[in-house]
Amino acid sequence: MLDRLEELQREALQKVEQASELNDLKDVRVAYLGKKGPITEVLKGMGKLSAEERPKVGQKANEVRDEIKTAIEEKESRMEKEALDKKLKEESIDVTLPGRPVRRGNRHPLTAVVETVEDVFIGMGFSVAEGPEVETDYYNFESLNLPKDHPARDMQDTFFITSDLLLRTQTSPVQTRTMEKHEGQGPVKIICPGKVYRRDEDDATHSHQFMQIEGLMVDKNIRMSDLKGVLETFAKNYFGEDRKIRLRPSFFPFTEPSAEVDISCAICDGEGCRTCKQTGWIEVLGAGMVHPNVLKMGGFDPEVYSGFAFGMGVERLAMLRYGIDDIRHFYTNDMRFLSQFK
Ligand code: FA5
Ligand code: MG
Repeated sequence: MLDRLEELQREALQKVEQASELNDLKDVRVAYLGKKGPITEVLKGMGKLSAEERPKVGQKANEVRDEIKTAIEEKESRMEKEALDKKLKEESIDVTLPGRPVRRGNRHPLTAVVETVEDVFIGMGFSVAEGPEVETDYYNFESLNLPKDHPARDMQDTFFITSDLLLRTQTSPVQTRTMEKHEGQGPVKIICPGKVYRRDEDDATHSHQFMQIEGLMVDKNIRMSDLKGVLETFAKNYFGEDRKIRLRPSFFPFTEPSAEVDISCAICDGEGCRTCKQTGWIEVLGAGMVHPNVLKMGGFDPEVYSGFAFGMGVERLAMLRYGIDDIRHFYTNDMRFLSQFK
């Protein structure tokens, strides 16, 4: 029996040695130390032994069991430690590595231009007004001295929603809306930035959707020289002293006299290029003295009040300021373009 116990011990210790996983050790424990294991069997058979042999076998059985148990426990804790070390090594964090930078965005260049222009005009005492992008035929055309079937409507063909509702072709309807609010009492001094829509051919300087900033000043004794002074002050503030401005006689049904205002091209410095169509100038705004009919429809007495108005293209202002050669860059959402305006 003692030999049998020693053999069991050798066997068990060898299996512990060979175990490569914690589960193998569990199997050894169950096989050798379990209730149905060979050592338990030996202990059960002790009744048949002589009184002399019994304590020796009992002692040996206990020793063998303890040896096996200790061997399993030692190996178990070694394996657990190894597993833990491995895990710690795999999950270690190098706190000296540089962090991931948080990228700061920037405003869209058109938004930045609108805010800059607003600042310049607020500095001259103007306030900022708003109007709807879906407009009625009355405000977009009729109240601006463009009755139904007026031929000048053709210059601003647009997207109609119903025969009376359309996407506004200009920010000028805000002129009438603002005058109505003032109920015939001056002074009125506003600018209004916003989106406008036209059925235009898209090219380097034209888009079917673009932005304008309207300006309107109505008071007693407002003259063309006031318009010129305000626009010159704006151009100097916005473009710097280098850029030249020029007024060309023009026609708008809602102003009389009317002018179109060009700024010398910043891309070629007036030499002539693709962006300015070889003229050296880029048209940025239309302007003029508010037509008496428009004052009347806005509720102002043209015998008492006079005023000027202008409407500038925001994209054109941005192109001239930053030297951008194609209007389509503003709408293609290319981060390489947009992120340059930090
Ligand atoms: C008008 O829209 C008038 N409402 C301006 C005005 C206001 C005149 C008040 C008198 C009094 P015009 O169609 O020229 O005018 O457009 C004004 C500006 O918008 C142009 O000078 C140009 O800078 C810009 N613009 C016009 N069409 C486009 C387009 N398709 N794409 C980009 N910019 C445009
Ligand atoms: Mg024009």
